[in-house]
Amino acid sequence: MSFPENTVPDVVMAPDTSVVPDAATVQTLLDAALQAIAATNDSATLAAAKYQHTGDKSPLAMANGAIGNLPPDERRAAGQLIGQARSQIAAAFTERATQITAVELAAKLHAETVDVTLPTPGHRPGALHPITQMLERMADIFVAMGWEVAEGPELEAEWLNFDALNFTPYHPARFMSDTLFIDPLSSHKLLRTHTSPVQIRALLERELPVYVVSPGKVFRADEYDATHLPVFHQLEGLAVDKGITMAHLRGTLDQLAQALFGADIRTRMRPHYFPFTEPSGEVDLLCFVCHGESVGNPEHPCRTCRSEGWIEWGGCGIVNPKVLAACGIDTEQYSGFAFGMGVDRTVMFKAGAGDLREFVEGDVRFDAQFAGGVL
Ligand code: DAH
Repeated sequence: MSFPENTVPDVVMAPDTSVVPDAATVQTLLDAALQAIAATNDSATLAAAKYQHTGDKSPLAMANGAIGNLPPDERRAAGQLIGQARSQIAAAFTERATQITAVELAAKLHAETVDVTLPTPGHRPGALHPITQMLERMADIFVAMGWEVAEGPELEAEWLNFDALNFTPYHPARFMSDTLFIDPLSSHKLLRTHTSPVQIRALLERELPVYVVSPGKVFRADEYDATHLPVFHQLEGLAVDKGITMAHLRGTLDQLAQALFGADIRTRMRPHYFPFTEPSGEVDLLCFVCHGESVGNPEHPCRTCRSEGWIEWGGCGIVNPKVLAACGIDTEQYSGFAFGMGVDRTVMFKAGAGDLREFVEGDVRFDAQFAGGVL
């Protein structure tokens, strides 16, 4: 005889003539089953008890099989007895199974409890680099005043970086000791040394009046030390309109200083020379830490301004008419002012940092201090 795979033939039990399914026997079997069920404490022992007391080979199954041995008039009563015992056992089993499942589920939930208050090694959110934060903040201050942001390329034409800005052919800034030129020299391309060429681009590309700021990277063949980086950042500003005067320049710089450092901060100008502005000045910021009170006060020195009361911030001036003329602008009708300042220095002062190199060395523990826009 053959069977389909994985099927098991029913076990045909031979009637056991030694078992007499009388009331006392059935009661004994019932008691034993109920006791065994009550003694179980998990699903495995419960399954074993079920098999032992109600399975095909259990004494009760045997007794049921032995009904046929009884005289015909006793069979019906014996069948009823066994049927009742079986249903009591089944009920006891269901009840115990419910209890055990509940206990086991509770134990599992307890074992798998997650303490959401435990510290995790989770990932910190990313943040903008402090210099990027400052560039954006400075640009935002001007956008709020109705200015536009203009950007120019970092790889720039020598003409835009120098000639159009009225640098003479032999101006020292053009020397290779200061400027990073691109090979071959005959290409007259360089890494821009300041953001001022964006002034020319803006004047050539835009309709007047022009009010633009240009934040960006600049490059110089400079030392790499605590106060100099060969790659650094500037914010350039240019306003060209009818009737622009030095007073507009002063007011604009004060506005920027106050928005960044507080309502009581002022700027001052010292005469200087830039080829593209006339007159030109250097801009200083009133020290926002000591407000100038450290000057002549050796008992309260100020680290931020080195007790000078003012911090060098950038350059500025009235746009040289030669620059406007180089861009085809009628200098009888239009005038302008311009300024440019170091953004990295501004961040360094604001953060109270002592060494510019920390901002570019990429140590995430340093950078993370500025996460969340604390500048
Ligand atoms: N470009 C100058 C520099 O890098 C800074 C500067 C000075 C920008 C005067 C200006 C300005 O717009 O008017 O040192």
